[in-house]
Amino acid sequence: MRIDILTLFPEMFQGPFSESIIKRAQEKGTVELVCHNIRDYSTNKHKKVDDYAFSGGAGMVMQIEPIARLIEKLKEEREYDEIIYVTPDGQTLNQGISNKLSLKGNIMILCGHYKGVDQRVRDHYITMELSIGDYVLTGGELAAAVIADSVIRLIPGVISDETSALTDSFQDNLLAPPVYTRPADYNGWKVPDILLSGDNKKIEAWKEEQAYKRTKERRPDLLK
Ligand code: ADE
Repeated sequence: MRIDILTLFPEMFQGPFSESIIKRAQEKGTVELVCHNIRDYSTNKHKKVDDYAFSGGAGMVMQIEPIARLIEKLKEEREYDEIIYVTPDGQTLNQGISNKLSLKGNIMILCGHYKGVDQRVRDHYITMELSIGDYVLTGGELAAAVIADSVIRLIPGVISDETSALTDSFQDNLLAPPVYTRPADYNGWKVPDILLSGDNKKIEAWKEEQAYKRTKERRPDLLK
């Protein structure tokens, strides 16, 4: 899978993409992450990428030309399954969307800034608009990094323990059950006996029951 990120701040992705599982996925060649600086596609003498809104009011709008130039260039090089714009007024990301995206070949993620991008970019290039929650970030970069992370870890082979991603919270519309590791007794705080019993069948039943209980208490909306 290839993910192209279109941004004014490519350095913001250095951290999230250069550690742990996402780093290994790139090294293995399972995913190729390419950041493009939209400013490089401005033909303006001052590398300007934004301008005042025709509607007036405070805040700048990202102009169509540099974004269109970059998208057209990428589309000439390969076919894209989705061109995603990250924006607070998009559809809220969930595990189902991440699952579907993890099966795609090539996707682009466009990050907005200021008051957002010229509506014509959204009307003519964007195939999907995603938000990561009902709050406003300074720009789309952190949202794009969140989306890329949640998608990449679902690509087969990225997480070494094959069953690990399948038992995540949300994967079956249930939250994950509590987990414990050694020591079995920490200052009198004990791990539930059943987990030390060695009875796999009982342990599986306990996990299922705990997942259901946790979901009912914390996220009853998921059970509907
Ligand atoms: N850009 C600013 N806030 C955002 C959010 N919550 N989700 C996606 N993109 C954003």
